[in-house]
Amino acid sequence: MLLWPWPDVIAHRCGGALAPENTLAGLAIAARLGCTAVEFDVMLSQDGVPVLIHDETLDRCAISSGRVAGIGAERLMATDVGVRFHPAFAGETIPSLAAALRRCRQLGLAANLEIKPTAGFEVETGRVVGRLLGSLGSDERPALLLSSFSDRALEAAALETAELPRGWLAGALDADALNTALRLGCASLNLALDGLGAAHVAAARAAGLRVLVYTVNSLSDARRLIGWGVSGVFTDRPDLLLDAIH
Ligand code: G3P
Ligand code: MG
Repeated sequence: MLLWPWPDVIAHRCGGALAPENTLAGLAIAARLGCTAVEFDVMLSQDGVPVLIHDETLDRCAISSGRVAGIGAERLMATDVGVRFHPAFAGETIPSLAAALRRCRQLGLAANLEIKPTAGFEVETGRVVGRLLGSLGSDERPALLLSSFSDRALEAAALETAELPRGWLAGALDADALNTALRLGCASLNLALDGLGAAHVAAARAAGLRVLVYTVNSLSDARRLIGWGVSGVFTDRPDLLLDAIH
């Protein structure tokens, strides 16, 4: 099994701001920029297939609308999520999780898989994602870090793939976030940039957790965070951060 390499720059939603979010085109751009890791969001279709998408509805990224949980995988995977970003990406569709993992492996990208369940489907989403990962051959999956804002989803995934490192996503560091991360056996706390201070990072590290921060789009922020002991940042602008913070 490939081990999560704790890279300091992680392209947010595949290719950051440089491609339509959560697409294979984003993965290709991330790799061409020299990224070694990406983050993407995973939700279940109506028929229980994990696909890459951030919102519970298609409205923001597609030219059609509807709730992801109410649409079958076949239709989702034929849904254009490229043209709205830019006409040059017309025809780019929602990928399945399996396809995205295969592509990451081919491109040499480590993947932070954020489980993003529709409300009410937390356990099922975690379980399905975990089982899918367990069913893939070692040559079909990249180095992985699992994360979620849902403790129930992350717990359900961990029951299927205990060996994978986990990150607990929280808006801010407080006692609750720290306790949840430790309860879930997480390796990292993945925290929002807003309101984060050096003392928060020190507290998480003192508890034995790494800290990853989202979403960091300026070089000065990235440098400050790395100086505080943050292990890595999720960014929409890997083009600005790569190389510059090393
Ligand atoms: O995993 C980091 C980040 O992606 C969490 O926020 O809303 O972009 O999924 P969001
Ligand atoms: Mg995300």
